[in-house]
Order: sequence, then C-alpha cells, then structure tokens
Amino acid sequence: MSATNHEVAGEAGEPTRRDMIHVATGAVAAGGAAMLAWPLINQMNPAADTRALASIEFDVSKVAEGSQTKIMWRGKPLFVRHRTAEEIAQGKKDDAADLKDPQTDDQRTMQSNEQPGKPEYLIMEANCTHLGCIPVGIAEPGYIGEYGGWFCPCHGSHYDTAGRIRKGPAPKNLYIPPYVYTGGTVVKIG
Ligand code: FES
Repeated sequence: MSATNHEVAGEAGEPTRRDMIHVATGAVAAGGAAMLAWPLINQMNPAADTRALASIEFDVSKVAEGSQTKIMWRGKPLFVRHRTAEEIAQGKKDDAADLKDPQTDDQRTMQSNEQPGKPEYLIMEANCTHLGCIPVGIAEPGYIGEYGGWFCPCHGSHYDTAGRIRKGPAPKNLYIPPYVYTGGTVVKIG
C-alpha cells in the first residue's frame, strides 16, 4: 500500500496507525490523571474518626439547674446552661427589648431541625462574638453583667439570659451550634 493510499484510507474513516497511537496515549494520560486525582479526592474525604469527632452527644441532665458547664465540640468550647424558671421568664420578657441581633427566647433554644428545643437548656458557643474571649456567666467570679446572663471582661460585652448581645462591642448573639435531641435529655451536637 502506498503512503498516499494509507492517508486516503485514514481520511475516509478508517483509523490510521497514527490515530491509534494518539488514542492509546490519550487513554494512558486519562488513567494517569485519574490515578493522580484519586488520592487528592480521597484526602478531601474526611476519615471516619474525623467525622465522628464532628458531632458529639451530651446528656444535658448532668447540668444542675442554675449552673452551666463547658464542653468541647470541634475544638471549640460550648456553654450548656440549665436555666432557672426566672432566667427563662426574663429571656421571654426581653424578647420585646431593643435587640442588636433580634432573636426570640424560643429561637435561642430551637433545635436545628426547627423543632422546639428545651427552654431550660441553652446550648451556645462560648466565644464572645467580638474577638472571641470566653464570657463569664452569672454567679461566676468576675461577673458584672447587667442583663443576668454573661459578661465578656475583654472589652465589656453584656449578654442576657438567652445569650443575646445587649450592650458592648460584640455584634452578634452568642452562636448556637446545630443540635437535635436524640431521645430524652441526650443531645447530638454537630
Ligand atoms: Fe468580648 Fe471583646 S472579646 S468584648
């Protein structure tokens, strides 16, 4: 077969030898790219133990009424406060106050599935929304807050009994992490 005939055969739809080499090279390149991409994708897929750490379970009944505890979630401290009836009543009354970051007391204890939570248990991130200091809770040493909740001693932010910012430089209420009650008093956070 002459060279001319060979090229004509290729143009007519028959794959030429050169085409076959290109196809084979392309397949190897695609396979190589897939092999390179897999470790990268796999790295981006969190390991099972990391996923487990992403959520925690906590039994809120361990916290006595009128007190709070700190627990760690994703490397961050959280407050779990067991509010008294007076604190809840004050939080509801303050729904009508002039709030910098408006949220009702009910919204502050809402579960992340948008079902009502337990008004007596307030679960919040324990970092001031100004620059991240840990606010002091009522009845703790150093508390001089004016709204019965938390006081941040770093620059003087005052939070109320629902953890809402009421005075000082903090721009937002203490953040509520995503959580749902999985049964009774056990809450799954994250
Ligand atoms: Fe809390 Fe500045 S960090 S007031």
